[in-house]
Amino acid sequence: LITDIRLRRVLDSRGNATVEADVLTESGGFGRGKAPSGASTGEYEALELPAQEAIANAREDALPRLVGEVHAGNQRDVDNALRAADGTDDFSSIGANSAVAISMAAAAAGADVLGAPLYQHLGGTFRGNEFPTPLGNIVGGGEHAADATNIQEFLSAPIGAPSVEEAVFANAAVHQEVHDMLADRGIPAGKGDEGAWAPSVSDDEAFEIMAEAVETVADDVGFAIQFGLDVAGAELYDDEEDGYVFDDGVKSTDEMIDYIAQKVEEYDLVYVEDPLDENDYEGHAELTERVGDQTLICGDDLFVTNVSRLQTGIQQDAGNSILIKPNQIGTLSDAVDAIELATENGYASVVSHRSGETEDTTIAHLAVATGAEFIKTGAVGGERTAKLNELIRIEDNAV
Ligand code: PGA
Ligand code: ZN
Repeated sequence: LITDIRLRRVLDSRGNATVEADVLTESGGFGRGKAPSGASTGEYEALELPAQEAIANAREDALPRLVGEVHAGNQRDVDNALRAADGTDDFSSIGANSAVAISMAAAAAGADVLGAPLYQHLGGTFRGNEFPTPLGNIVGGGEHAADATNIQEFLSAPIGAPSVEEAVFANAAVHQEVHDMLADRGIPAGKGDEGAWAPSVSDDEAFEIMAEAVETVADDVGFAIQFGLDVAGAELYDDEEDGYVFDDGVKSTDEMIDYIAQKVEEYDLVYVEDPLDENDYEGHAELTERVGDQTLICGDDLFVTNVSRLQTGIQQDAGNSILIKPNQIGTLSDAVDAIELATENGYASVVSHRSGETEDTTIAHLAVATGAEFIKTGAVGGERTAKLNELIRIEDNAV
């Protein structure tokens, strides 16, 4: 039984305040969770409140329904109590940041009571040896860095890696290789919010650099590394222009579909996230029909980890994979439901961090527990390596 929940304001990787939750149980169990935070957030996401407000509201409305009432190990009960306490569809009352922090902390406490690793408690007892492949953010811009590429993320995908450990190191090597290539070309580059290089280069140049970097590292390590994108199309789309605004002009929806399809062919992209606006199921369906048999078309802002939006996508054959961000929907149960619906319908799952992160490692366990095909959690930087190193530990049976 949950005997106490403590909520506090802590820092995230951008220096913003976020919610940390501690859950304590009668039998001495303890779990901690921290909410991440997006910058290129989807229109249909659950709502994050200012941390202090989310904490105050959760203390008043959620804690009385949880403390002394619910077992930490019964994740569905915890998450149903959070939903009931909030009473809205988008957690606008207690805040999705309080909800997800408590949901994750309860899961960790439930695992602690059992003396089991979190991924096992979350359902991974019978998982096979397939580990999620980490997608590493190497170069980018969009909402994550000023004066850089229009496309938000260029992602290294070490699809031939024999282990998570080797995949994680391959992504870090691609990140270093790109640093060296930029230095050779005399292009200065700082890093964006997720640790990707944010040089002032055109998108075309970023494609060339990525292609060369993954090839160089693949030759070095002896397994296949390809790459992919998070276009974050909703951020590029402008209603008034009725198109996608790039530095070199506006692309109509048809031009955007052609542009992405051509890049998939030219660079053999294995992954394209949010190629189009979050309201454009039809465009996603058209692109999926064109290139869906050779690449993953993944909905992030399109689906926002929401089963009803995913259901709409499935009906229309829009995309063939879904990004899973627990804080987009507010609880781990909802995130797992989205993964299950995806799996039943042949959609791949990609568990993901946010651009604003903490040292929380829950998503590493969630990805392993659910057999997700990919996990997107950066390539370098402490709040990213927290998850990557946890994956290495899970693989080594050391958690
Ligand atoms: P966000 O971006 O966390 O800033 O929303 C990440 C993504 O778009 O995948
Ligand atoms: Zn995205």
